[in-house]
Parts: sequence; C-alpha cells; structure tokens
Amino acid sequence: MEPGHLSIMPDEIVEYLCSSSPELVVDGTSGGGGHTSLISHALPQGRILAFERDPAAAEDLYVRFKGTNVTVINASYTKIPEIINTKSLPKAEGALFDLGLSSIQLDTPERGFSHRTSGPLDMRYDRSQGKPASEVLRAMTEKQIADAIFRYGEEGRSRVIARAIKQNRKLLTTDDLAEAVRSVVKGNPVKPLARVFQAIRILVNRELEHLETLLAEMHHWTESGCRVAILTFHSLEDRMIKLHFRDSDHFQQFDPPWLLPATAEKRKNSRARSARLRLGVRL
Ligand SMILES: C[S@@+](CC[C@H](N)C(=O)[O-])C[C@H]1O[C@@H](n2cnc3c(N)ncnc32)[C@H](O)[C@@H]1O
Repeated sequence: MEPGHLSIMPDEIVEYLCSSSPELVVDGTSGGGGHTSLISHALPQGRILAFERDPAAAEDLYVRFKGTNVTVINASYTKIPEIINTKSLPKAEGALFDLGLSSIQLDTPERGFSHRTSGPLDMRYDRSQGKPASEVLRAMTEKQIADAIFRYGEEGRSRVIARAIKQNRKLLTTDDLAEAVRSVVKGNPVKPLARVFQAIRILVNRELEHLETLLAEMHHWTESGCRVAILTFHSLEDRMIKLHFRDSDHFQQFDPPWLLPATAEKRKNSRARSARLRLGVRL
C-alpha cells in the first residue's frame, strides 16, 4: 500500500507486464510511484522509464527512485518516442498508463482539483504550462463550457451549470466553481460536482489530445509482442483505447481485452470502482 495514493489492480498489472521478463518497460504516468516501484522490484534485471507530467510529483519520484533501475522523466508521455530516441534505448517490451490524476494531487488543496477543499481554481498537472482553469473558463463562451461539461463530464445538466458558471464573475477558487454548480442543482450535488470538476480538469490539461497523440505514435517505440496496459476511468478515453487496440494495424486486443478490479479492491478503494484495465499487444 502506498502512502497518499493506492495503486489500482497492482497484481494484475505486474503479472501482465512482467511475466515475460521484459528488458525495458515504460510507466507513462508514474504519479505516486506505486506501480513503478512494483514493476521495478519484479524486474531487477530490467529498466523502467517513468514519465510524469507534474513537476511536483516528479521531484518526489527522483528522490524515491535514485540509484534504482528506474529513470524518472518529468514530461508528458507524448515525449516517449523522443526520449527513447535521444537516449538510444531499445524499443519497449511493456508499457503502463494509469490515466487521470492521483489522490495526492486531488488531496492537495492548492492544486485546485477538488470540490471538497478550498483552493485556487488551477487544475493544471504542470503549472509552468498553459493557463489555470479560472482563466480557461473566463475565455470560453457559455456554450463552449456547456459542451465541455457534457462531453468530458457526461453531465446532463451542462447548460444550466454553464450559465451559472458564466454568471459567477469572480470564479477564482474551487469554492466559486462549486457554488455555481450547487446554485442550480437540486438534490445531492456531489455527483454533478465531481463530473464538472472532472470535465474542467480534462479540458485544462487537454487530456484527450495527449491520449490521441500517444495512441497514434505508440507503434514507433514498442517492440513486437510488447504488452500495453491502460487504466481508464472515463468512457471517452476507454472507447478511444478499445478502438485503437481492436482496429489498429499495429496492435491487437489481448484475450481478455480488459479486466475490472476485484470486488474487494473496489470496496477498499473508491477510485477503483470506475476503473477498467485495457490490455493490448503490439503486433
Ligand atoms: C493515476 S496517477 C498515477 C498513479 C500511479 N500509477 C501510482 O501507482 O502511484 C496519474 C498520474 O499521471 C500524471 N499524468 C497525467 N497526464 C499525463 C501525461 N500526459 N503524461 C505523463 N503523466 C501524466 C498525473 O500527473 C498523475 O500523477
């Protein structure tokens, strides 16, 4: 068990990725380092490249994995081909992507990811790039915000919520955004709040664009037979991956094509309840 973030489906992931003793495994979203550490221990002769977009998380990973077989890189997983090339590494024989944000980020109020704590409305994984959520929302029209909430949050009340967001002139903090949602949602606001915050996070970090780039380029840096495991938490990203593994010329779905967390894990870790592990193999 990792402090701060409970890694999802650890046993299934280690078995899938490490059973053939791959030489190089990429962890594209190292986060709290939980999966990275398990893979590192399972492959004492192997090498792990751990990517992390968030500089604060990467700082902790550098310290944690100093002197091990893990090389930490503070960059988006879209930079994998470039890094493998410049370091003259072999192609990867295993890869893991655990999409979204970590509990550590969610539970740090000043990052602005959670409707449960007060903080600046930021939500960027990397605060040195792009604009915070407050500015992104300010620059958008009501219709654009409604579309984003509907698409990325799968929230049916997107239009009234978008109107309330645009009417809240301040919109500087997580409380301002949460208040705008609560002002128009009748009944328990917890689910709409979670969906709206998720939607804005996906928008601010351009998460689906990063995923699209990853999928389009993955065949360049993976060896034939390379096993790829992707943990998804959202139907849009899950569908993109399913279609890629099913229809791409370079990948096929593993048998079975996906796994779900066991009931005991879902009981222990609420984040696991919406998780699905997609499995693909490089042809
Ligand atoms: C769910 S957490 C990973 C948790 C990790 N598997 C563990 O066991 O501790 C996802 C991490 O991916 C990072 N991330 C999100 N988008 C990324 C991207 N495009 N490239 C690299 N890291 C990204 C987030 O900053 C976050 O730390």
